[in-house]
Amino acid sequence: MADGTEQKSSNQMWGGRFASGPSAIMEEINASIGFDKKLYAQDIRGSIAHATMLAAKGIISGEDKDKIIHGLNTIQSEIEAGSFQFSRKLEDIHMNIEARLADLIGPAAGRLHTARSRNDQVALDFRLWVKEELQKTEAMLTALITAFLDRAEEHADTVMPGFTHLQTAQPVTFGHHCMAYVEMIGRDRARVRHAIEHMDESPIGAAALAGTGYPIDRHMTAKALGFREPTRNSIDTVSDRDFALEFLSIASICATHLSRLAEEIVIWSTPQFGFIRLSDAFSTGSSIMPQKKNPDAAELVRAKTGRINGSLIALLTIMKGLPLAYSKDMQEDKEQVFDSAESLELAIAAMTGMVRDLDVRADKMREAAGSGYSTATDLADWLVREAGLPFRDAHHVTGHAVALAEQKGCDLSDLSLEELQSINPAITAGIFDVLSVEASVASRTSFGGTAPSEVRKQIAWWRAKN
Ligand code: ARG
Repeated sequence: MADGTEQKSSNQMWGGRFASGPSAIMEEINASIGFDKKLYAQDIRGSIAHATMLAAKGIISGEDKDKIIHGLNTIQSEIEAGSFQFSRKLEDIHMNIEARLADLIGPAAGRLHTARSRNDQVALDFRLWVKEELQKTEAMLTALITAFLDRAEEHADTVMPGFTHLQTAQPVTFGHHCMAYVEMIGRDRARVRHAIEHMDESPIGAAALAGTGYPIDRHMTAKALGFREPTRNSIDTVSDRDFALEFLSIASICATHLSRLAEEIVIWSTPQFGFIRLSDAFSTGSSIMPQKKNPDAAELVRAKTGRINGSLIALLTIMKGLPLAYSKDMQEDKEQVFDSAESLELAIAAMTGMVRDLDVRADKMREAAGSGYSTATDLADWLVREAGLPFRDAHHVTGHAVALAEQKGCDLSDLSLEELQSINPAITAGIFDVLSVEASVASRTSFGGTAPSEVRKQIAWWRAKN
């Protein structure tokens, strides 16, 4: 009810699932313990660093500090043993731990919250969590890069069609295609490293928003918690969730890369393409069609990307209207990040497994690379180089050759010299050296090009950097 007293039965209009009226609803909308219990280890680490600093500065006694630290360590063991009783009435992880500390050590527990607030406490806990998650992500991305480098090395000479608009464009190698993903994942990893650097500042000691009059040492707590330095503005510190937004943006871009790979895996593993066969470990059968092998893991990576992108938009939208400093809206940051972190970890792990395991059908790739007039550009380039035609004219002549091959239902390399000469008399037998897909690929030696020699150079560069 409006005056805050409990109702016996729930309100008929809006209280359907709430047995005891408004105060129960308030408790449910307000509590974050259901998800922020994930921050218990960071909360305890932060409190130990804070208590240690308070004692070092003479703000609390050494004896109280020892009791506090002992109590916090006991609580950590209780949580890890599954014997800790979480209470929704105590709202969040910070108050759950503090209340238990009071049970365990008595009045000394009340001294822990000197010179801090839940606002800087939650900013600290969450930042520590995100930083650790980014460090884990960095290692996982390194493993994915390694998987791609291994496959690229193995298939530096394996010819496949390169596509634009998903139409056969020019022959490339599978190794070169793998290296495209190395570049993408490499940029993701660079963004992760950058973000770790950005967020490497300790929020604790900003207190509610204005700092504190106690003689605290924020450099000491920053150092103890593994941060480079303390944050410089107490208002910004408790208002800021850029580190969470950066995590979600990085996760979205990375997941978008994985989703494009997932899409390629789905296409390539169809019988119509047949470029790859997925291992049983990353596919499933159909309950009704015995011949099927479905790329479920790839499809789920593609879908999780939608979920991660949604979380980024959700948190941007949560933050966009908030005046400085802290508002309770910010409590909604955690589920977005936790859910995305879990999805991203799964997506990277699944992709690493798929890349390592997938069976490359070099014969099918070679066959497809030769069809679709993929060496038409090579023919045009030959006319420029060997017969001195301007590229535009060479393009025109090549168009005639493609039309003739199409009419005959054969590939460019199947046309006879006479047929080619009927289109342009300057053509000689030397043309056949460039019409094969292998010759085409080997000729593309420009920096970053698809020639196997060039791809091997790029692999070596990444191996040294990885
Ligand atoms: N559970 C809160 C959160 O996640 C902790 C901070 C609460 N601070 C406050 N002034 N009510 O944001």
